[in-house]
Amino acid sequence: MSTSSNNRVSTYAVNPIFLNRWSPRALDEKAVISEQDLMTIFEAAHWAPSSFNSQPWRFIYARRGTPEWSPIFNLLVPMNQAWAVRASALVVLVSATTAQMPGAPGPMPAYSHSLDAGAAWGYLALQATQLGWYAHAMAGWDVQQAPGVLGVPDGFRVETIIAIGRLGDKSVLPPPLQEREQPNTRRPVDEVVMQGLFRP
Ligand SMILES: Cc1cc2nc3c(=O)[nH]c(=O)nc-3n(C[C@H](O)[C@H](O)[C@H](O)COP(=O)(O)O)c2cc1C
Repeated sequence: MSTSSNNRVSTYAVNPIFLNRWSPRALDEKAVISEQDLMTIFEAAHWAPSSFNSQPWRFIYARRGTPEWSPIFNLLVPMNQAWAVRASALVVLVSATTAQMPGAPGPMPAYSHSLDAGAAWGYLALQATQLGWYAHAMAGWDVQQAPGVLGVPDGFRVETIIAIGRLGDKSVLPPPLQEREQPNTRRPVDEVVMQGLFRP
């Protein structure tokens, strides 16, 4: 049994939300996200599992049209600015690099802080999908400048910046991006799953 949705087909049957979540760039500049929807998206992300329930994720957000938007938007590389300019909100995902382990005298370096934040990102994206929004993570932003611009202190890592928006018309994109503007696929699942031993 497989699942087909959003022009994608899985090998094994999964909840269609996994196929329906994708990362479009053609966003609708008219869309305004409500506080309620944003907080619902953060709420879902906050229910992600984490090592020792340390909840290392932090979310810094800005809605388009607010004073907080420009400092975050200006961190993006031009290629991402070109489409994220139509996002309804930008979210910076930050993780705490240390955690208070049970019985330890003080905070210790946390092995899995980025893993935990990644789980939160996944939940965030799925909740956005559930609400009809699209969450598009980005690695293309100024890693050196981001902590200073955002006031992120030592002991925290800026993980990613996420654009949240409604799907718009492809025609808003430059032609090379228009061609790529469709849900992509995945390599076969048995290439990435191995029983017992790592298979290069
Ligand atoms: C951590 C991370 C960084 C990414 N960086 C960028 C980026 O800088 N610009 C961009 O357009 N897409 C970026 N993407 C989107 C990926 O290209 C996309 O998730 C991947 O191709 C899978 O497609 P899908 O999300 O539509 O399923 C990023 C995704 C992740 C998770």
